[in-house]
Amino acid sequence: MAPEDSAEAAPLLRSFERRFLAARALSSFPWQSLEEKLRDSSGTELLLDILQKPSGDSITLCESTAIISHGTTGLVTWNAALYLAEWAMENPAGFAHRTVLELGSGAGLTGLAICKMCRPRAYVFSDYHSHVLEQLQGNVLLNGLSLEPNVAALAQHPEHDTADAESPRVMVARVDWDVVTVPQLAAFQPDIVIAADVLYCPETVLSLVGVLQKLSACQKDQRVPDAYVAFTIRNPETCQLFTTELGRAGIPWEEVPRHDQKLFPYEEHSEMAILKLML
Ligand SMILES: C[S@@+](CC[C@H](N)C(=O)[O-])C[C@H]1O[C@@H](n2cnc3c(N)ncnc32)[C@H](O)[C@@H]1O
Repeated sequence: MAPEDSAEAAPLLRSFERRFLAARALSSFPWQSLEEKLRDSSGTELLLDILQKPSGDSITLCESTAIISHGTTGLVTWNAALYLAEWAMENPAGFAHRTVLELGSGAGLTGLAICKMCRPRAYVFSDYHSHVLEQLQGNVLLNGLSLEPNVAALAQHPEHDTADAESPRVMVARVDWDVVTVPQLAAFQPDIVIAADVLYCPETVLSLVGVLQKLSACQKDQRVPDAYVAFTIRNPETCQLFTTELGRAGIPWEEVPRHDQKLFPYEEHSEMAILKLML
C-alpha cells in the first residue's frame, strides 16, 4: 500500500481492532468499507494488517449480554469502566506499587486492565452482589491472576513488594457500601480508591458518598487514599446530586482533564467524566 493509502485505511483498521477487542458480533464489523477499500487497492497489506491485529496484552472477560440480569447491572462492562481503564493506562505511575481498592467492580474490566498495565502492588476488586462476585472471581482467574483468600494474605508476602514483582496480589471482597465499617475498609490499606459507573440512581449516590466518607477516615502512613470516580453523564441531576452530596460531606473534588487516547469501543456520543476526590 502507498503511504497515503495506509493513512486512509487507518480508521478502518482501528474500527476492526476496537470491535475485535470488544468481542463484538462479526456482523458489526465494517465489512462493506473493507470490501470497497480492497477493490481499490492492489496488494493484500490491508488484510494482513487486520489479521495481525490486535497486538499487545489482552483481557478475557466472561460477561452477560443483557445490561440488567439477576437483578444487577454488574454483570456487564459499562462505558465508564472503559474510560477509567484508558485513563489509568495513560497514567500508570499513579497506580504503580500502590494498593488499589475498587468499589462496585462489576465484571472487572477496569481492574484487570490496571493489574496488567499499571503494576499495582495489590488490587482489591469489590462488589456486594453474589452473582457479580462469582463472575468477578472467575474473570480474575481467567486472566491468569491468583486470588488471595483474605485481607491478611493480601498484606503478606513482602517479597512481592519489590519493584519488579510480576503481578499484583489480588483479592475479590464483598463490600456493601451501606454496611461496611471503617476498620474493615482500613484493613485493605488502600492508597487509591476507584469506582466506575456507580452513579445511576439517587440511592446509589447516597450510599457511595457514605462509603467515601468512611474511607476518608482510613489513613495509611498518615495519608488518606486518593479517590477517582468515573461516570457517564446520562442524567445531569444525578451528577449534580453527587457533587452536592460531596459538598455536604466536606469532600472537595476536581474534574480530571479528558484524555485523548481512545482504546475501547464505547459509544462516541456518550459524555464521560472522572472526578478526583480529596477525601
Ligand atoms: C453499573 S455497575 C458498574 C460496574 C463496573 N464498575 C463497570 O463500570 O462496568 C454498578 C456496580 O455497583 C455495584 N453496587 C451498587 N450499589 C452497591 C453497594 N451499595 N455496595 C456495593 N456495590 C454496589 C453493583 O453491584 C454493580 O456491580
